[in-house]
Amino acid sequence: MSERKTITLIPGDGIGPEISSAVCEIIKAAGVDIDWDIQTAGADVAVAEGTPLPQRVIDSIKKNKVALKAPVTTPIGKGFRSVNVALRKELDLFANIRPCKNIEGINTPFSDVDIVVVRENTEDLYAGIERQIDENTAESIKIITRAASERIVDYAFQLALKNSRKTVHAVTKANICKLTDGLFLDCARNVAKKYPQIEYKEILVDNLCMQLVQNPSRFDVLVLPNLYGDIVSDLTAGLIGGLGIAQGANIGSEYAVFEPVHGSAPDIKGLNKANPAALLLCAVNMLKHVGFLDAAVKIENALYKVIKDGKVLTSDLGGDASTTEFSAEIIFNL
Ligand code: NAI
Repeated sequence: MSERKTITLIPGDGIGPEISSAVCEIIKAAGVDIDWDIQTAGADVAVAEGTPLPQRVIDSIKKNKVALKAPVTTPIGKGFRSVNVALRKELDLFANIRPCKNIEGINTPFSDVDIVVVRENTEDLYAGIERQIDENTAESIKIITRAASERIVDYAFQLALKNSRKTVHAVTKANICKLTDGLFLDCARNVAKKYPQIEYKEILVDNLCMQLVQNPSRFDVLVLPNLYGDIVSDLTAGLIGGLGIAQGANIGSEYAVFEPVHGSAPDIKGLNKANPAALLLCAVNMLKHVGFLDAAVKIENALYKVIKDGKVLTSDLGGDASTTEFSAEIIFNL
């Protein structure tokens, strides 16, 4: 086993603290020695410290290089800008990787889904350049650069190569956003030439959504600008059983922040109903990333066994178990 590690933990808000504590308990039960450097962020922190993302959070991740992050609420239509977007930008976590593969025991309309969504994570409409022109008009500026587009497409091809995947689809709306998505597509075509062993294809995002719900098995690796990646990865999560099991990772050249696809789920906050599996799968990847391979596989197997057995499941997976009962069952199966 690897030596003891210090890793930043952002417990988030909403269901974040409940699922974080479940995941930390499971990791501890698997015998992994982690010193969690707990860093709060979000609305309560904004009240107490004047900003929802204090510098201490960034400094902690820069020091530890790796973080596990539960969701943080972003006020809708008003209030502070997203902590999640700011964090990704600040640490240049340019690639948001969201794998989506069927899990045995979860009944879904398709049994052959195995897709990796590679979402550009630093620009597009998430640049947050918006302005109110008058009472009835507002505008938002979509930023697409050659550097960020080439970097994310290259990452997608590298990922395909390393994981013996066959096809990369570049996803855009370049028929309408001719300059911005057109630039992304131009970059994708250029980068694709470097990887003749991987098949390169293009698809418009609206058509992709329709095809995904009809025949998802024809897709392998998808590379998308930020906004389409955000939306499509929720769709692909739905294909395999929902947000409760959809893992993700934000990767940069220096730092990695592992966080699930889902948000803070305010509708079930504090009810002990949230599924901790998505964050647990993120933690499994994080453990692999820092070298705790055996423990990662042990946790992964225990989780998959509990889901396959189907006796103790949270309500999003059709069961009636609480967060704590579900995580206790995983610990029992370790
Ligand atoms: P959401 O992902 O929080 O919830 C959507 C639906 O899925 C809800 O019905 C919720 O109960 C369910 N759900 C989500 N995670 C679940 C889990 N682990 N177990 C069981 N059910 C689960 O999306 P929503 O409602 O659009 O966003 C809520 C807040 O989260 C917003 O403030 C949003 O900005 C924020 N958010 C934060 C993210 C992050 O921190 N990375 C990512 C996405 C949203």
